Amino acid sequence: MWIVCSHDLSYKAWLENGHHFKGDYEDAEKMLCDIAKALRYLQGQRVLHNDIKPSNILYRRETGAKLIDFGCAQHGPKTRSGRGSPWYTPPEYLAHGYGGFPAEIWGLGIVMIFLLKLMPLPEFSQGWITEDIKLNHKDKTELKDIEHKKGVKAKQAMGAWLTTVRRVRSMLPKNAVAETVYKMLDGYLDTRVQAQELVTHINNQG
Ligand SMILES: Nc1ncnc2c1ncn2[C@@H]1O[C@H](COP(=O)(O)OP(=O)(O)OP(=O)(O)O)[C@@H](O)[C@H]1O
Ligand SMILES: [Mg+2]
Repeated sequence: MWIVCSHDLSYKAWLENGHHFKGDYEDAEKMLCDIAKALRYLQGQRVLHNDIKPSNILYRRETGAKLIDFGCAQHGPKTRSGRGSPWYTPPEYLAHGYGGFPAEIWGLGIVMIFLLKLMPLPEFSQGWITEDIKLNHKDKTELKDIEHKKGVKAKQAMGAWLTTVRRVRSMLPKNAVAETVYKMLDGYLDTRVQAQELVTHINNQG
């Protein structure tokens, strides 16, 4: 294991002005490039990280970004676990109760809107229990009333969050990183950019 002498992105040294990212555009660009390559590598190994978020990315300007914490990782292509953090969970999890390699790209897309300073660290927003989303995919007659209510509450919270993400996506600025993030936060699985295409796209921009 590599021990990296750098802070994770949720650490106070990387935050300012009400939990906004303190770094600049070049930091965001470098992290997108490094973590996109990490995701391409993992997908090549058929490994899902399942917990892409700022606190699982270590970053230092001199050495770049490293993805850490494989505590939720699984073999792909599908994950049914609900252990990841709610804000980074993709719309397909709400619709079908599972994620996969496209979910990793979505998670990185959410990290990127934080790095582009378009929203504060999502962890400071109202959350929900990811696992509870799956209650909405069970037969209602098999659920206790309290479980059904928990499922509905989580679904509403996630729906509201996805509306916020769609709004931020529609207002992304015109620059190379934001243009890439737009492709990562595509709500449709079939058209969301994939890891290999993402790395190629970034290399072509550079
Ligand atoms: N390889 C590493 N090099 C340097 N620091 C590390 C490394 N792995 C972890 N850390 C430090 O330890 C902290 C916690 O590690 P990790 O994310 O693996 O566990 P966790 O945060 O307890 O899990 P969770 O993300 O589920 O809360 C990281 O934020 C980072 O500061
Ligand atoms: Mg962690």
